[in-house]
Amino acid sequence: MNVTRNGFLRGAVCTAFVASGGCRALRGLSGGASMYGFAAPRIPRIRLGVVGIGGRGNGVIRRVSNLPGVEIVAICDINPDKLAQAQKFLSEKGKPAAREFLGPDAWRRLCDDPGVDVVYNTTPWDLHVPIQLGAMKGGKHVFTEVPSAFTVDECWELVETSEKTRCHCMQLENCCYGEIEMLTFNLAKLGMLGELVHAEGAYIHDLRWMAATEYPGGEYWRFDENRDHGGNRYPTHGLVPLCLTFDINRGDRLDYLVSLDSAKANFQAFMNEKLKPDNPRRISGVKMADMNSTLIKTAKGRSILVQHDVSTPRPYSRIQLVTGTKGAICDYPFRVVFEESVGSGAHKWFDDARAEEIREKYRHPLWKTIGELAKRVGGHGGMDFIMDARWVYCLQQGLPLDMNVYDLAVTSCLCELTEKSADNRSRTYDIPDFTRGNWRTNKPMEIVDIDLAKMGFAPDKDKV
Ligand SMILES: NC(=O)c1ccc[n+]([C@@H]2O[C@H](COP(=O)([O-])OP(=O)(O)OC[C@H]3O[C@@H](n4cnc5c(N)ncnc54)[C@H](O)[C@@H]3O)[C@@H](O)[C@H]2O)c1
Repeated sequence: MNVTRNGFLRGAVCTAFVASGGCRALRGLSGGASMYGFAAPRIPRIRLGVVGIGGRGNGVIRRVSNLPGVEIVAICDINPDKLAQAQKFLSEKGKPAAREFLGPDAWRRLCDDPGVDVVYNTTPWDLHVPIQLGAMKGGKHVFTEVPSAFTVDECWELVETSEKTRCHCMQLENCCYGEIEMLTFNLAKLGMLGELVHAEGAYIHDLRWMAATEYPGGEYWRFDENRDHGGNRYPTHGLVPLCLTFDINRGDRLDYLVSLDSAKANFQAFMNEKLKPDNPRRISGVKMADMNSTLIKTAKGRSILVQHDVSTPRPYSRIQLVTGTKGAICDYPFRVVFEESVGSGAHKWFDDARAEEIREKYRHPLWKTIGELAKRVGGHGGMDFIMDARWVYCLQQGLPLDMNVYDLAVTSCLCELTEKSADNRSRTYDIPDFTRGNWRTNKPMEIVDIDLAKMGFAPDKDKV
């Protein structure tokens, strides 16, 4: 009787836990050790496999082919033209041809291929999680475009698999390497902003053309995702850089959120106006709101606003506002202010000349080292190249990566949680602690750099 009763009680307690996300906090206890601070054995010559040679896949092939010690050995797509296009680029660049993996399931073979060390996953969203799991199970480090997962359960599965396989699983959040994002991180680390209290980030980018343009090939996958989901389906560009500045998973953690969808006035109307009458995308019932706003509270009591708007004629912005007790910084356009003396207040942002002085003086070391080169190689003003140079450097030198699977999980899980909250009158949702308590003792991220000579760049490093 007692056993039954205990069993019943355990079940009842667990059910209550599940309702609050608590049972999930116990997930993965039987997995491997934490991946925080994990450094894999050095890989001086990285054999890279790229899956999904579309917009982003082509970009990575172009960028990475400028990095010494990286060989693009495998390329995978469902479209033979995309493979041919990549091979043409490699040949023009004087690089060896990559092995080709063609077809919807060919990524599985690439993930199992012993000749590949690292998988770079630039596929549509529905393939992000299966390819990450396949790569790690095949013994490969995996880097995946944003968002790298969409549900809390998927995030846990990635955490557990990374811990068990001891393979890196990093989200390719290029915006963490943006010049202003890194300047903000630098100022925060140097104490120039005082104690950090609030931040705002966003993905405000008018993408209606992507859904409405009847361009050849019909790669409408992103529209389908937006048609079917509310909340914030693309939270990471605005949020992840703020998380690094706030030491999320390294002294603080995202605790809970509330999310609110605006009216759905523009996206569907725009497409119905632009698309031909027989286009199947002329439908009703688009779930994505024109604006989603999510408020997050951290364990240390700070607040973060994250917004998503891809369907109004509003100029591009990731906002990137960070306020502290001694100053504030913001982008779009770049502005900064410090309290000059206690009580002096800050009624206006510093003027442009002063702001530029600060930008120059406190530029992040990575931007000082490789910023000029990055601007020439390109990729969102250079940040994509800096991101690639940094993970390549870390793998070649056997260093921990800047971001790990816990950073991926705690930010990507917002896709599910914001949608649930927005669907339920902005109910509060707990954000799981994927570190399982380690956020309290994990050391904050430091200001990092790379050594170009160690990477094998020639002294005339600026030539690419
Ligand atoms: N970080 C950024 O700044 C940024 C910018 C744009 C897109 N993205 C992300 O990059 C990813 C890719 O976006 P994109 O704009 O390059 O998309 P895309 O549609 O241009 O490219 C996707 C490619 O994947 C291929 N593909 C589809 N199914 C496949 C399969 N089964 N196996 C192999 N290849 C397959 C397609 O043929 C296509 O070439 C998305 O996750 C997106 O969110 C990130």
